[in-house]
Amino acid sequence: MSDTHTTQTETVDLDACGPEFTENPYPLYAALRERGPVHRVRSEGMEMWLITGAEEARAALADPRFGKDWRRLDLWHGEPAGSSPIFTNLLEMDPPQHTRLRKLVAREFTGRRVEGLRPRVEAMAHDLLDAMLAAPDGRADLVDAFAFPLPMTVICELLGVPEPARAAFRVWTAEMVEPSGPEADKAAVTGITQALADLVAAKRGAPGDDLLSALVRTHDEDGDRLSGDELLGMAWLLIIAGHETTVNLITTAVRQLLLHPGQLAAVRADFGLLDNVVEEVLRHDGPVENATFRYTTEPVTVAGTTIPEGRIVLVGLASADRDPGRWPEADRFDIHRDTRGHLAFGHGIHYCLGAPLARLEARIALRALLERCPRLALDADPRELHWIRGTLIRGTRTLPVRFRP
Ligand code: HEM
Repeated sequence: MSDTHTTQTETVDLDACGPEFTENPYPLYAALRERGPVHRVRSEGMEMWLITGAEEARAALADPRFGKDWRRLDLWHGEPAGSSPIFTNLLEMDPPQHTRLRKLVAREFTGRRVEGLRPRVEAMAHDLLDAMLAAPDGRADLVDAFAFPLPMTVICELLGVPEPARAAFRVWTAEMVEPSGPEADKAAVTGITQALADLVAAKRGAPGDDLLSALVRTHDEDGDRLSGDELLGMAWLLIIAGHETTVNLITTAVRQLLLHPGQLAAVRADFGLLDNVVEEVLRHDGPVENATFRYTTEPVTVAGTTIPEGRIVLVGLASADRDPGRWPEADRFDIHRDTRGHLAFGHGIHYCLGAPLARLEARIALRALLERCPRLALDADPRELHWIRGTLIRGTRTLPVRFRP
């Protein structure tokens, strides 16, 4: 990794950093931060800029000069991965379109609304644990048995995605998060677009008591509605954001607690600590490593370095939340620290719409798991886990555990 360290004027090739960086990107981010808060990097084969400092990252997330709507910039000389309507979504829009669309869905994700899902999420967590604990050898892959199906089932039930369609969504979204190649990526986009179009058509014909049917019907006081493309984009974003992230929050929380037995014992003695466990996992090793692409709509100077117009910018959430200038002993996992102000859910107008739901799911999942598994232990060398490639999502695809001595 050392030859990828460089001064600010050189490009840091993140693609060349290999599995060591995928597993633990924090030493490189620390080295970059020491040099300054903004760097030129190469990622996914493209030149872009990376903001690593906590203060600068927060400011960038709230700065409208870092836009989201790539269509305005002709950056891709066409459109990425074809022209699917799923890219008509909140994370690829600027105001006023973003403001309008967010208003139409925000009411479905308020803390109050989400709290109403508690009994169902608790029941689901216990059903999954019933099945997991029935394994005769007392072993399971926690991701497969619990951390993945919980958020996936919650978001699919919420949206009204029928059971038979869910497995295909899992395969397509995993492909899009961790592409195995351009052809497979394209096939996933095509597959998901068609499946969502079919689903929306079905909801139009026979509306149900679900969010997608509500979004088909929805309109505000002025009679504004979501267009066909906006509906597909929203459904896709909710499905992918609704599970690819929360699965990692639950998995990382369990891994960290098992690696810190003293802190695990403290949680078992006082479940009141769980809320802060979730926040510290978000801060210390949150599921979103870098915010989704932003684009400079004009030249922007960050801490003395000017990023020219029309460049891709990554805001380093993982780096910002380990900035020692912001967090004392930033690399230490400490469930007792004051975690307020982390950037794991972003900041500004694109702040995570699903944060209340993610928190609810993670708190319920961890409590149910710890209550039902007093002898939970890792069943693999933590250094041999399969880490998700790329610089968007952090987490492991598996977490083997034992729950009987
Ligand atoms: C631990 C779990 C989660 C984490 C860490 C997370 C993180 C984030 C982050 C960092 C952003 C901002 C990205 C940016 O500015 O580039 C974001 C946006 C978003 N998230 Fe989440 N998310 C999580 C769970 C969820 C869930 C469960 C849902 C939906 C049910 C969801 C829906 C969204 C949506 C719709 C946006 C776009 C908001 C906008 O552009 O206005 N997220 N999330």
